[in-house]
Amino acid sequence: MALRDILILPDKRLRLKSEPVTAVDKSLRKLVDDMFETMYAAPGIGLAAIQVGVPQRVVTMNLAKKDDPPSPLVFINPEVTWKADEKSTYEEGCLSIPEYYEEVERPAAVRVKYLDLEGKPHEIEATGLLATCLQHEIDHTNGVLFIDYISKLKRDMVMKRFKKAAKKTEGATPLADDKEPSHHIG
Ligand code: NI
Repeated sequence: MALRDILILPDKRLRLKSEPVTAVDKSLRKLVDDMFETMYAAPGIGLAAIQVGVPQRVVTMNLAKKDDPPSPLVFINPEVTWKADEKSTYEEGCLSIPEYYEEVERPAAVRVKYLDLEGKPHEIEATGLLATCLQHEIDHTNGVLFIDYISKLKRDMVMKRFKKAAKKTEGATPLADDKEPSHHIG
């Protein structure tokens, strides 16, 4: 396993639409291993492959609380097939937009189809944090970020802040290491 660099706003690759995975093979499993290592180190609870610069529709997740046993989840080619009318609001963050949090309203439940690491198809219905996290990560595979759902004024402010930071640090990652993982959705 190897740690990979997480792309940070305003990196334009975060806006790429990722390609579907066509073969569940050794290189994909290596990517998934690296994504878990990178996600745990950040720390975050979800990560999309494009966040480590790989434009493939792959998502890793672990929603277990700090002291609970880890429950790693992998979603290959995840796709929302149904959304509830009911909405829920969650304060979201993103490993690609470190230390910025904002409330986002999304459908409270979704159905998602995906492949597992054996290439087997599944469909699940998710509610709560899993529903939010799945929508956040599937958005990443489509080049969408959670700041796209906040007001233009707030989005302009956060873009400005990260553009300025990128100029200053020339690619360094301003990550705090003492954040609660649950805050960094991914
Ligand atoms: Ni994210």
